[in-house]
Amino acid sequence: MENVPKKPMLKIGTLKLKSNLILAPMAGISDFPFRILNRRFGCELAFVEMINARSLGYRSKRTQKMLYSVPEDRPLGVQLLGCEEKYILRALDILSRYDFDILDFNAACPAKKVTRRGEGASLLKEPEELSKILKLVVKNSHVPVTLKIRTGWDRHSENSKVVAKLAEDAGISALFIHGRTKEDGYGGEVDYQAIREVKKSIGVPVIGSGNVFLAFGVKKMFEETGCDAVAIARGALGNPWIFKQSVELLKDGRIITKPARQDIKRVMTEHLDACVDFYGERGAVVIFRKFFSWYTKGFRGVRHLREKSSRVKTKKEMYQIIQDCSSPAKQKTPAESFPLRGSL
Ligand SMILES: Cc1cc2nc3c(=O)[nH]c(=O)nc-3n(C[C@H](O)[C@H](O)[C@H](O)COP(=O)(O)O)c2cc1C
Repeated sequence: MENVPKKPMLKIGTLKLKSNLILAPMAGISDFPFRILNRRFGCELAFVEMINARSLGYRSKRTQKMLYSVPEDRPLGVQLLGCEEKYILRALDILSRYDFDILDFNAACPAKKVTRRGEGASLLKEPEELSKILKLVVKNSHVPVTLKIRTGWDRHSENSKVVAKLAEDAGISALFIHGRTKEDGYGGEVDYQAIREVKKSIGVPVIGSGNVFLAFGVKKMFEETGCDAVAIARGALGNPWIFKQSVELLKDGRIITKPARQDIKRVMTEHLDACVDFYGERGAVVIFRKFFSWYTKGFRGVRHLREKSSRVKTKKEMYQIIQDCSSPAKQKTPAESFPLRGSL
């Protein structure tokens, strides 16, 4: 398997990881229960949901909830979004009171409400400004700093090599690259060549992201780009097994773990329980509705259960819906299963 690293290791600054499969940051998804669940299946490094520097408050309950973690939830990355020096510095000060291992700076988010403020992917249009911000973050962060980018703003202005080089010179310890432009949003093909060229042009580790819906997508990302690690995003929605399956595929060339319907139902129940512990019953049931749809992708005859799940209010009702999923699971469908177009 050409380009697939012989040993699944990764070094990001001072942080040594035994796995080169990472759970990508996902706003609205990567909460404490989701991270802990994926770690059980072999994910080592996971990220907290993206945090906006401007809205990070010293004593805000929301901040504390987002940054809640336990020793089993390590190594942990925090991802920061912002563009104004004073808010970034304040955010770094607040974050210095929390335990985590990596600080990732976001220059990839395509959401309109983010880019119109000059944050996220819009920083790709201002590489020098981004470089200035990164120098500030690297200087003031107590943990290694990484950067998340896309291949460019749009197909006519792809500049990931330039941005990557400036970022490396600014002192980042690794680069995450989603192989699509901001204009691509979350649809369409992934530009493996752009990732490969970035990998060749810088010395720090490069972590590839995009269209990794199955273990085969992980393998393809390594093979096509020569990247050092792969970030799994939508592929982990309702499918934590992707971590185990990817390890198997990369090591032995075949997938051994094939969760049966009962396994999926058991993991769903455990995930729901973890959400109830973390959010309380009412909040948990609302949050879990979307996961129910993802877990049951490929189940036959569950449409009415999905509709029902969008109305239930108690964990007892949700348990019942999980129990009622009795039709056999078939192989999950990839990309089309997660219709996310444009911005979040
Ligand atoms: C619901 C959702 C939320 C996301 N939130 C973030 C985020 O907060 N920060 C970030 O850098 N990327 C975010 N992403 C992008 C993913 O990390 C990943 O780069 C992207 O989905 C491409 O991988 P995929 O095609 O395998 O899903 C998000 C993606 C999804 C689907």
